[in-house]
Amino acid sequence: MSRTVWGLVVLGLAFALFEAARRPLAPPPLEPTAEAIEGALTVTPEAFSFTMPEGLIDQPLVVPAANPLSVEKIALGELLFFDPRLSATQQMSCETCHLPERGWADGLTQSPKFDGSPNARHTPSLYGAGFLRELYWDGRAQGLEAQILAAWEGQMGADPDRIADELGQVAGYRDAFSETFDAPPTPAGIVDALASFVRTIHAGDTTWDRLPKDAASLETNAVGRGSGVFSEVAQCTLCHLPPVYSDALFHNVGIGMDADVPDQGRAAYLTAAAEADVLAASVGAFKTPTLRGVADHPPYFHDGTAETLAEAVDLMLAGGIANDALDEKLVPRQLTPEQRRDLLAFLEALSPDAATYPRPVLPE
Ligand code: HEC
Ligand code: HEC
Repeated sequence: MSRTVWGLVVLGLAFALFEAARRPLAPPPLEPTAEAIEGALTVTPEAFSFTMPEGLIDQPLVVPAANPLSVEKIALGELLFFDPRLSATQQMSCETCHLPERGWADGLTQSPKFDGSPNARHTPSLYGAGFLRELYWDGRAQGLEAQILAAWEGQMGADPDRIADELGQVAGYRDAFSETFDAPPTPAGIVDALASFVRTIHAGDTTWDRLPKDAASLETNAVGRGSGVFSEVAQCTLCHLPPVYSDALFHNVGIGMDADVPDQGRAAYLTAAAEADVLAASVGAFKTPTLRGVADHPPYFHDGTAETLAEAVDLMLAGGIANDALDEKLVPRQLTPEQRRDLLAFLEALSPDAATYPRPVLPE
């Protein structure tokens, strides 16, 4: 190609980029569907100006093309997350059930919704939710945007259109939405901003991340020895894969299968459309939770039945709870008392140092 043609190509590209940058970030239509996720960009966090903790730096976040991260959107999402004006009762925010100081869960077995009715399942931590394509314990929500819209309506009783209008009456929000989306508050904008904020919630920079990984440290230190027990002796890494300590898949480990009417888990959401063997393996199957930050948010499991970390770990070491659909990767593991102690030390070391989360000042 001649130099002139190259010049034209470069000029054309520059113009296209300029045009793309000039276009306002219009919020995408509401109810992002499976298509939105299929077109998802899997982006490494370095591309964005929030700092990913060291231990997770190589782990790609799942970000749909329709909702790219931006600093403004994350900051706006943080305000919305802590704002009770998002609920029907004006009394409840995302924080009500997802408290930063409780590992972004709430310490309850089952949390009451806005109308006092109990949730069927235990509130999970939000650590690492941005790594997931399928959200909720059974994976029924495709992408964070769809899940957050469901939570906003279901947990908080929101009428999204009405609440977007109400936020439009708040000068601080009007300005923030105008700067972020070049538009007044809309339900889709609210959901996108919340999802962007949730994508920044991580348990990186933990004692384990800071521990030197040379042979001596791994042998002389309880946390280091515990990491070996976790991956080699007890083989927990068959499902809890580093660095997130989750495979983002669904397994039956038997929790709740001894109840009178067991929660069918993923099988209840996958319908007749699923292959018979997939469906059978999904009975009582729930998402492998991340173990980052795990010590911060007892009680444990989808039904919140294990009150302490030690209790949850002992149940997993015992091979779960026997039932017909039990995942064959979970088998009983015999540990010495020292190995069990080291294993618990390792799991404790996967949590960030305790700190109070500085709440944002809400706009008026
Ligand atoms: C009344 C309590 C409550 C409130 C309020 C609430 N949640 Fe949740 N959240 C839950 C429960 C319970 C689940 C698990 C439900 C399930 O799996 O069936 C959940 C699940 C989630 C998940 C999925 C995590 C995962 O690992 O799959 C995310 C993300 C989340 N909530 C974010 C939010 C956001 C953002 C808000 C505010 C718009 C919010 N939640 C408000 C109780 C609540
Ligand atoms: C077959 C896959 C698999 C293996 C192997 C496995 N886990 Fe799990 N783990 C899960 C699943 C799935 C859950 C969620 C179960 C539920 O709530 O119904 C879970 C839950 C947990 C929890 C509770 C976390 C929370 O946030 O509620 C802990 C702690 C845990 N596992 C530790 C371990 C340890 C330690 C090992 C090794 C001894 C191990 N797991 C082996 C799949 C596995």
